[in-house]
Amino acid sequence: MRRFVVIGRDASASDDFLLEDVPGTSGRLDVGLRCVRAALLVSHGVRAATVYLVLGGGPRAPRVLRIQGGVIRFVRPDERSLAILAKKALARDADSRAAGFVEIRPGLAIARGGVDAVLDDLGHGGHPLYLLEEGAGDVRDVPEIASPDAVFVLGDHLGFDDPDRQRFAARGARSISVGPTSLHAEDAITVLWNEIDRREQRP
Ligand SMILES: C[S@@+](CC[C@H](N)C(=O)[O-])C[C@H]1O[C@@H](n2cnc3c(N)ncnc32)[C@H](O)[C@@H]1O
Repeated sequence: MRRFVVIGRDASASDDFLLEDVPGTSGRLDVGLRCVRAALLVSHGVRAATVYLVLGGGPRAPRVLRIQGGVIRFVRPDERSLAILAKKALARDADSRAAGFVEIRPGLAIARGGVDAVLDDLGHGGHPLYLLEEGAGDVRDVPEIASPDAVFVLGDHLGFDDPDRQRFAARGARSISVGPTSLHAEDAITVLWNEIDRREQRP
């Protein structure tokens, strides 16, 4: 199953944001929520992919939300519904001291930790890892991106910091670009899926 890791450097790891003003009160969790929609939802369907939202902001950071397309039910594409989903998940974990991901409902889980929690969850199964970055090599020159085991890592409006970049580099991550323009993260995911979809349709 393909996986998307979205690093929200300031995105709230607690539920104390306002649904009426998610961008203004959540450290831009809204960016991650739109990435969930772009990675998992298509017109009248859900892709069999997993999204990790790494949440680096607020007093309970870092935590990671994991959302599994094809397992989670009743996910709606609007940002408010996705914000409600995140808010409930971030509230429910108040007393958990468990290591690793704790399932909140089928397809929705939360873990303490940041990028390390994601890397632990990926294990050492040899997933091809790609950092999506403006100015990197062209995705069209990398046929392997269509691998069903591929993991794609994106930044939010702040991009990657050096420690996270180094963690992924240590696992052999390769930087790729989906085109010459700096896009919003969710749009980069949509363009990337389009590349994968086209390759999968080729005879
Ligand atoms: C708005 S951009 C980040 C801009 C940030 N100021 C920076 O310099 O990194 C958000 C994320 O979308 C992804 N992205 C945007 N444009 C892209 C492109 N042309 N190719 C690949 N990824 C892209 C990257 O993962 C980036 O971290």
